[in-house]
Amino acid sequence: MFSLFIRRDGLIDPPAIGNIDHHCHILFGIDDGPSTIEGSIAIARILLDMEVSEVIATPHVISDIYPNTSKIIIDTAAKLILELNRINLPLKLICGAEYYTEQFFINLIEKRDVLSFGDKNYVLFESPVENPPMLLESVIYHLKSNGYTPLLAHAERYHFLQRDFEMVKHLKSLGVHFQVNHPSFMLPKTSHTGEMARKLYLKGYVDLLGTDMHKATPVQQVQPSKKQRFRLFN
Ligand SMILES: [Fe+2]
Repeated sequence: MFSLFIRRDGLIDPPAIGNIDHHCHILFGIDDGPSTIEGSIAIARILLDMEVSEVIATPHVISDIYPNTSKIIIDTAAKLILELNRINLPLKLICGAEYYTEQFFINLIEKRDVLSFGDKNYVLFESPVENPPMLLESVIYHLKSNGYTPLLAHAERYHFLQRDFEMVKHLKSLGVHFQVNHPSFMLPKTSHTGEMARKLYLKGYVDLLGTDMHKATPVQQVQPSKKQRFRLFN
């Protein structure tokens, strides 16, 4: 879905994020995102500056750290939507979540109590970084069999995928789609995460992009300068 621009000098431009941020901790007070509604509005302003017109709000759902329910997420989103409307910020907000791979998540799937989004009924989920959890394939199975599309959050970050690209292919064969954080494309060649983002992109494994923004820190990735472009073939 993304076009690729390879230049004669071996540089490529990272893909534009487009008008939808598919992974963002914009909701206030319910995870490690902004603690106040003002912080949420600050994130909204940054997204609009990036020409993003729609954001999927994806707060963490982790049973023992951020035990957010669908109701908590929807109620918080409703307050933020009211405020966005009140101050005339034209940002569309859709409820999602970033579910942690654990039995609690599987229980939610079986109750069909998960917040999905998009034309493919995506459910965003994350995994521990170092090694694949035992429940990874079980989560994928339960999502698929309940009509959802598993969307792995920030796929470039996982050490077990960086070490073994065959595992990426395996997950894809199981029906997993991959979300990559757009700021990762700006990371230097010394960064395993940056290199993995670029590898996923160049091999055609990036399905959706997001900012994964937690706080209102301006992101410089919409129009990268020549210095920010990364070199492919050296
Ligand atoms: Fe996140």
